[in-house]
Formats: sequence, C-alpha cells, structure tokens
Amino acid sequence: MKSIKVFAPATVANLSCGFDVLGCCLDNVGDEMVISLTSTPGVKITKIEGADLPLETHKNVAGVATEALLDKYNGDTGVEIEIYKKIKAGSGIGSSAASSAGAVWAINNLLGNPFTAQELIQFAMEGEKLASGNAHADNVAPAIMGGFTLVRSYTPLDVIKLNSPEDLFMTVIHPQIEVKTSDSRSVIKHKVTLNKAIEQWGNVGGLVAGLYTEDYDLIGRSLNDVIIEPLRSILIPEFDTIKNAAITNGALGSGISGSGPSVFALSKGIDTATKVAKAIEDIYSKTEISFDIHISKINPDGVRVLN
Ligand code: HSE
Repeated sequence: MKSIKVFAPATVANLSCGFDVLGCCLDNVGDEMVISLTSTPGVKITKIEGADLPLETHKNVAGVATEALLDKYNGDTGVEIEIYKKIKAGSGIGSSAASSAGAVWAINNLLGNPFTAQELIQFAMEGEKLASGNAHADNVAPAIMGGFTLVRSYTPLDVIKLNSPEDLFMTVIHPQIEVKTSDSRSVIKHKVTLNKAIEQWGNVGGLVAGLYTEDYDLIGRSLNDVIIEPLRSILIPEFDTIKNAAITNGALGSGISGSGPSVFALSKGIDTATKVAKAIEDIYSKTEISFDIHISKINPDGVRVLN
C-alpha cells in the first residue's frame, strides 16, 4: 500500500474585490490527511478526527473529489483517506476546500502526477459543490497551487497563479459562530449596477497589478468590495469595528474571509500583522463570542508532503 501524509492548507477566498475569483493560501493553518492507494477499487474514508463529518464517500467532500479524479484516471486503483481536521467547518477559511484539495493533490502525487493543477482544481471543485451547492474554485485553487490565484474563467476553467510579495502577512480572526457558505451566498443579489461593477473590476485589476509590482499601497487601495461585503458583513458581529481597528493599526486592507464569519487583514510585515491581531483580540475579548486568531505568511506552495 503506497501512502502519503499531507498538510492541506486553509485559504482566504475573495480578497474583498474578487468574489469567486481571487484567493490566497495560508501557511500555518491547515488539516492533515493520510492518503493511501490500495488494490481494492473504490474510495474509503477510514478515519476522521477533529470534526463530526460523514464517512460515506458520496457525502464527504474529499470522497466526491477523489471519485471525480478516479473517474478520469486510466487505471485501476482504490483510495483510502484519513482526515485530521484542524480547520473548523463553516469558519470561512476554506475548511471543505482543504479536504478536497488535499485528497486530490495527494492521490496525484502517489500516482506519479498524471493530472495538471487545472485538472486537480476541477476535481476538488466537486467537493465545493457538495459543501455549498456551488462549484467555486477560489479556495481550492490557492490550496492546490499555493500563493495568490485568480480564476480568470470558469468555462473553460482557467486559473492563474499570481505573484506573491514576500512581505505580505495575513491576520485572520475566526469568531466561533457558524455561517454556512450556502446561507451566506443566499444573501447576495444576483444583479449589480454598472457603477458598482466598474468600481469592483477596477479594484480587481489594481490588486493584481499591486501583487506583481509589489506595490503595497496599491494592494491596500484595491482591497475594497462594494458588492458583496455590504450585504454579508451584517452576519458578522463587530465587523466594522474589527475592520477599522485593522486599518488604524497599519493593515493594508481588511475584509470578509470567503463567506465569513472569519475576517482577514492583510499587512506588510509580521510586526504589523501581530499589532493588528492584538487590536482585534482586544475588541473580541469584550464580546461573549469565542474566537481564534491566526497570523500567517502566504504559503507559496499549497498542499505539501509531511514526513
Ligand atoms: N467565493 C466563495 C463565497 C468562497 O464567497 O461564497 C466560499 O468560501
């Protein structure tokens, strides 16, 4: 039995302006998974620790992503999956994406890499479809490719890995209330005005340009969402206070991480990211809500092998 243990990273999707298209990968927050190839065809989830998730393959995001991969694989193999969850479900930092991405990346590695990153993203998106009813790629893409990613197109899928300036650090607060992605997607309006669209795509372009030119001020100016954040932020206690505190304490920008309830702040340098974490912690300590705070550099590689 060939086996591999991997780190399956958490991710921050949307990055304010890029709903369903932009995301980035965290370095020190993530799940662990053990994936094995077996001679008995089929997919078996043999163990899940750290979360109450279904072991049935067709109900588990890692299971359906694996089945999507095996459907396209020219060969006979079975797969066994053990999942050690550290990312809480419904946290907004890509918990389901980590499981789907970790599984398909690890199987591809064990099989000698027959599939491209774009194909792996497509398989992992099946997991996202199961989790939220929508096959978005903005968490699974950075989990698989690492760094910052842009989904330029969904049909056909065209994902681009962007430049990732060395000095960027994420501070993420996870208030421990559950906001389901499906619920958080249901508050979004499906029509936007041209004025708002103009502002939003200006910011997407600005953010991508800022990442390439390593212009931290431009990155900060572009972390601005006039379409989704005003609708979703009401689901997150103290959102405006946290965001203001992050900016006042030097963050380049701040917004909802994925579909929430986590809130991210992007900073230049670990010292600022730590100062921002402290300021946010002070605010949340005064509420009744439990929370976790993570400070992470951007993970340039995505899923990785653990020894
Ligand atoms: N782009 C998705 C959303 C990410 O905002 O619904 C979910 O984590």
